[in-house]
Order: sequence, then structure tokens, then C-alpha cells
Amino acid sequence: MPFTIKVNGSTHSVDVDGDTPLLWVLRDVLGMTGTKFGCGIALCGACTVHVDGVAIRSCITPIDGIGNSAITTIEAIGATAAGARIQKAGLDREVVQCGYCQSGQIMSASALIASNPRPTDSDIDDAMSGNICRCGTYVRIREAIKLAAQSTGQGG
Ligand code: FES
Ligand code: FES
Repeated sequence: MPFTIKVNGSTHSVDVDGDTPLLWVLRDVLGMTGTKFGCGIALCGACTVHVDGVAIRSCITPIDGIGNSAITTIEAIGATAAGARIQKAGLDREVVQCGYCQSGQIMSASALIASNPRPTDSDIDDAMSGNICRCGTYVRIREAIKLAAQSTGQGG
């Protein structure tokens, strides 16, 4: 059945079953492949997007639960202040190795500093513990989040 969803500021009509995961709609229907499939069962974080600013796992989020909420994906997160700071900090700290997990990492990290501009180590652990990185970039991800948080209010 048709659903109308708002993704990155644009409205899309998609004709899928109501239990179709948002991840499949983004990737297979809308062709937005920046959001990754990892586990499909909410254990890895590769599929993380924002729904009304909150980081969620799109692999277990059925399209019929989205309603009028605003979805933001990795394709547009750089247009937000927090997303831009996280992406810049990631480059500055040379976080990325293979990159597969990174869109999900960036989405979780940007949701964190958007809601908590001065996260503690514990806050970072809580926000990022569900994002798995096979390349083991965790130390640099944490450094990048701290760098991004420090740049809050400096025009970045
Ligand atoms: S693909 Fe969604 S959490 Fe792993
Ligand atoms: S950078 Fe390779 S899985 Fe995270």
C-alpha cells in the first residue's frame, strides 16, 4: 500500500507492505544506499538513521510506524550543525578504515551531540555501544566525538 514519508526534507510516496523495514525502503525503493545493512536484527548499528532527531535502527523499523515523522539519513546529515561537526572531526582524526560502519556511527554520534553538546565518556559509551566496528576504530570514534563536542559554538 502507498505510504508518504519525509526523508531529508523531501516527501516521497512509496508503495510497499506496511511491515517493510525502513532500511529496505531507503535502499531499495529510494536508492539511498548510504545507510548500510549489517545484521538486520538491531545488533550492529550500520542501519542507523534519525527519526525526528532520534537515532533508530532502520532495519527493525517498519514503514507503517513512521507516520509524519522526519527521517534524516547519512546523505543529509552533513547539512546539520552536529552532523557537520562529527564528519569534520572524523576526517581530522582519520577515523575511517573500511568505512562500512561509519554512516551508522556518524548518525549515532551526531544525534548524541545534538542532544548533549558536552557528552561524558559514559554518555558516549551509552550512545555508541550499539554501533559495531569490525575494524576496531572505537578509540578514534570517541576522540572524534570529543573533538566535535569541543567545537560546539565555534561556528562549525
Ligand atoms: S543492520 Fe540494523 S542494527 Fe544491524
Ligand atoms: S571502519 Fe570498518 S567496520 Fe568500522
